[in-house]
Amino acid sequence: MIRKIIRMGHPNLRKIAQPYPQDQIGSGEFRDLIEDLRETLMESGGIGLAAPQINVPYRLVVIDTKTSKSRYGDLPTIPVTTYINPVVTVLDDNLAGVWEGCLSIPKIRGFVERPQNIRVDWIDETGLRKTLKAQGLLATVFQHEFDHLNGVLFIDRVQDKSKISFDDEFDLYHQPTEQK
Ligand code: NI
Repeated sequence: MIRKIIRMGHPNLRKIAQPYPQDQIGSGEFRDLIEDLRETLMESGGIGLAAPQINVPYRLVVIDTKTSKSRYGDLPTIPVTTYINPVVTVLDDNLAGVWEGCLSIPKIRGFVERPQNIRVDWIDETGLRKTLKAQGLLATVFQHEFDHLNGVLFIDRVQDKSKISFDDEFDLYHQPTEQK
């Protein structure tokens, strides 16, 4: 079922999400929730969707780098994956900036600098512990999505407020020169 994506201003986007109970992984309720996250993500055309964005207060994120490759540039192709209770570890202090967008902040972009070398640890849909290292744009995608689990939106992380733009003005005035 496609769920409604809540938008900036909804107080539940600002809450700390709860760890997903591991004994619930694989339950009917769990499978329905993951299915809904995936369907809603696919319909929206986004790269990732966090459960709080559909007003579900758990630490669950679905990311699919295949569907929207062109929008942000090069991403390694990772089939749609569910990240349960993910943890990010920053591996070095290398930063890079990306003009980010968010399904909960439609038609707006902002330039955000984030660590570019991270490790992600999570539980997968079968209850197994997984880990991967991510660089560059993929590292940005993970951090953006996982921020939603802590009530943080990309707009909070824009340092230079002149680099917040509507999509149309972004196309006119901000690319490609500022797209580092
Ligand atoms: Ni977002």
